[in-house]
Order: sequence, then C-alpha cells, then structure tokens
Amino acid sequence: MKRMRIPATTANMGPGFDCIGMAFDMYNYIDFEPVDAEDYCELTSGGDAGHIDLSKDNLIYQAYAAVFAYLKKPVMGIKMHFENNVPYSRGLGSSSAALIGGVKVANEVLGNPLSDTELLNVALQFEGHPDNIAPALLGGVVISGLDENGDVFYSKITPPANLYCTVIIPDYPLATKKAREVLPQQFSMKDAVYNVGRMAMLIDAMHTGNLEQLSLAMNDKLHQPYRMSLIKGMDEIIPAAKALGALNVTISGAGPTILIVSDGEKDFTSLQEILAKYDVTAKITALHPVNEGAALV
Ligand code: HSE
Repeated sequence: MKRMRIPATTANMGPGFDCIGMAFDMYNYIDFEPVDAEDYCELTSGGDAGHIDLSKDNLIYQAYAAVFAYLKKPVMGIKMHFENNVPYSRGLGSSSAALIGGVKVANEVLGNPLSDTELLNVALQFEGHPDNIAPALLGGVVISGLDENGDVFYSKITPPANLYCTVIIPDYPLATKKAREVLPQQFSMKDAVYNVGRMAMLIDAMHTGNLEQLSLAMNDKLHQPYRMSLIKGMDEIIPAAKALGALNVTISGAGPTILIVSDGEKDFTSLQEILAKYDVTAKITALHPVNEGAALV
C-alpha cells in the first residue's frame, strides 16, 4: 500500500473571499493500492471517521473516478483506507482534503499524467471555488481564482516563518451552504474598495513577513459581517483575543472555526471562558502553516 497525506486548510484569511487559502499541519491520510479489476472499489476507514460514506458516493472516490472521466478512461479498481483527522464541516477544508486526496490517488495510480492545474480543475467541479483545494494540493499560502474560461489559476507563497496560527474549533458544525446563503449577491463600491486594499496588504505581508500589517489586512466586509451571527461568541472573542496578543481574528473558511493570527507563539486557551458563556465547548489549538501540500509519505 502507498500512503497519501493531505493537509487541512483555512480559506479567505479575512478579505480574500474565495481567493486565498493556507495549508496547516493537520492531515488526512489515504492508504491505497490499485486492484486489477475495472470499477472495483473497496473503501474502509479508521480513526475518527465513523460518519464516512464507504459506498461509491464517497467524495474521495467520486474525485478519484472524475480523473478517469476527465481522461476518458475506464476507472481502475482501487482499495482505499481512510484516516481522517480534519474535522467535518468546521471551516478547515475537510471536503477539499477529500477531493484532493481522490484526484491525487488517481493521478498516482495512473503514473501522474495530470498537471497540478488539471487536478485542480477536476476537483473544482465539486467545490466551485479553488481557495481550499489549491493549498490542499500545493501547500503554503495560495492565491487562486478562475480565468475567463473557468479554469483555475494560482500563485503560491511560502508562509512567513513567524506567522503563528491558533484555531478555535467549536463542537458544532456549520454547513458551507448555509454560511453562503446568508451572503448578499451585491456589494457597495465602498465595501469592494475596502476589501481590495486589504487583500493587497495581506499578500504584501505574506511576502515580506511584515505581520503588523495583518491587524488591518485581515479585516473584511464581504462575508464576515454577515456570518458573525452564525458563530457563537465571535463578537466577544475578537477583542479578547486581541487583548491576549492577537494581530487579528477571522473566520476560517465558512466557519465555525475561528482563526487567530499572531507574531510568534501566544496562548489563547483562556478564551474557553468566553465560549462557556455561550454553552460552546471547543478545541483551542495551534496549527502551523506548512509549505507542502498533498504528497506520498
Ligand atoms: N471561500 C469559501 C467560503 C470557503 O467562505 O464560503 C468555504 O468553502
């Protein structure tokens, strides 16, 4: 068996709605081997993966099969065993980890005929926006979008060494679909300009390592104001985390995980007291940015 490792990811990073994401040192694993029988599929799971669908409807298998459809080839038989550590529906890219795992395994058993851009285009069919799938595949901080033909473009940045990330992963899920339904379809020119300037400063900070800029550059007017009410205690968490040394606090992806960024290591575990007021239990933990994406290990 070979083993594929796929990182968790955060998306948006404040102002970069659907356009930027970053990989973390939390991983899903897929042990796999091809089977010499067309369409054969044997899926098993271990660890924390009780709710995983082990039929051919499984998202990892669907992404695997989509690579063969893209190449107009019959689907090669496969055995896959899943070890999932990225929590489901929490804003840490669990579905992107599944999609990238599936397309990478398919590419591997085929002898790697597809480029990274092609793999992203196949995965994009399921996700619609590339901000989690791109860092899950490539690692690091990845700016991404869709070109005039609807194909993925991207550019990767190595995360600054002193960027320290803490996540608050609450015990309740939030469906991305629900978190997208609360967003308006139109925005004022003022809010658009607000985000464009901050996104530019965010990219600059990622390149230069000038993290002080993040206190302004991770603010957002396109999604966070509309999603705050879905994330229990966030209003209170933001000033409290800043008082403990955070440069900024934002929603990780569509939430409900909260991302806290600081310049070097800081301890935010005391924020549990605020969450307790909202009857929320949560895991507060550091996740380190990683520069390597999905890979055989
Ligand atoms: N950019 C996406 C969102 C990430 O915020 O809805 C979650 O898939």
